[in-house]
Amino acid sequence: MPDQLTSERYTEEKSALVADFFFGNEEYETEIETWIKGEEVRDALERQAHVLLYRVDGELAGYGCVGEMRRSWPPQDRRADKIDVSVIPALGVLPAFQGKPLGVDYTERYSYQIIQDLIAIAAEYGHKILVLYVHPENAKAIAFYERLGFVDEGPKKDKYRIMSMTFPDEVLGPPAPTS
Ligand SMILES: CC(C)(COP(=O)(O)OP(=O)(O)OC[C@H]1O[C@@H](n2cnc3c(N)ncnc32)[C@H](O)[C@@H]1OP(=O)(O)O)[C@@H](O)C(=O)NCCC(=O)NCCS
Repeated sequence: MPDQLTSERYTEEKSALVADFFFGNEEYETEIETWIKGEEVRDALERQAHVLLYRVDGELAGYGCVGEMRRSWPPQDRRADKIDVSVIPALGVLPAFQGKPLGVDYTERYSYQIIQDLIAIAAEYGHKILVLYVHPENAKAIAFYERLGFVDEGPKKDKYRIMSMTFPDEVLGPPAPTS
C-alpha cells in the first residue's frame, strides 16, 4: 500500500517550502522548477488558479497547478474561435518521487495520483477541453501524458507541444452561468 499522498493550497507565505525544489539542469526541467519560484505562480494565484503542494508522509513530493483560460481552438486553426478551456500550467514531481512507489501498478504512483487530482479539479470548471504544454524533448512527460489519454495538438510557437484531453460530458461540472 503506497504512503499517503496529501495536498494543500500553495500560498506565497509557503515560498520557503519550495526553495529546495530542483528538477535538474535540462532546459525544460529548469523551467518547471522556476515556475513555482517565480512570477508565474503569482500570476496564477492572482487569476484564481489552484496551485497545490503535494506531500507523501509529510515530505514535499511535488506541485501542480490548474486554471482556466480562453484560447483559440483547435490550436492549429488560424481562423478558429476562442473558447474557454481548463489548463494545467505546471506539474512537477520531485525526482525522489518519480516512478514511485516501485513495484506497484502505475495508477498507484504518486505522479498518477497527482495528475488525477489536477484532472478532477479541472473537470469542475465545466470546460470540455483540458490543455497543457510540454517541451518536445521531455519524452518522459510526453509518455506520461499520452498514457493518460492526452493527445498531441501540434506546436505552440516554436518551443512547446500542445497536448489536450477532451472530457466526456458526464465528468464535467455544471456549465458556467452565462451573463
Ligand atoms: C513528468 C512527470 C510528472 C512524470 O511522473 P513520473 O512519476 O516520472 O512518471 P511515470 O514514471 O509514472 O511515467 C513515466 C513513463 O515514461 C517512461 N519514460 C521515462 N523516460 C522516457 C523517455 N526518455 N522516453 C519515453 N518514455 C520514457 C517511463 O519508463 C514511464 O513509463 P513506464 O511506467 O512504462 O516505465 C515527472 O517525471 C516530473 O515531474 N518531471 C519533471 C518535471 C516535468 O517534466 N513536468 C512536466 C512538465 S509539462
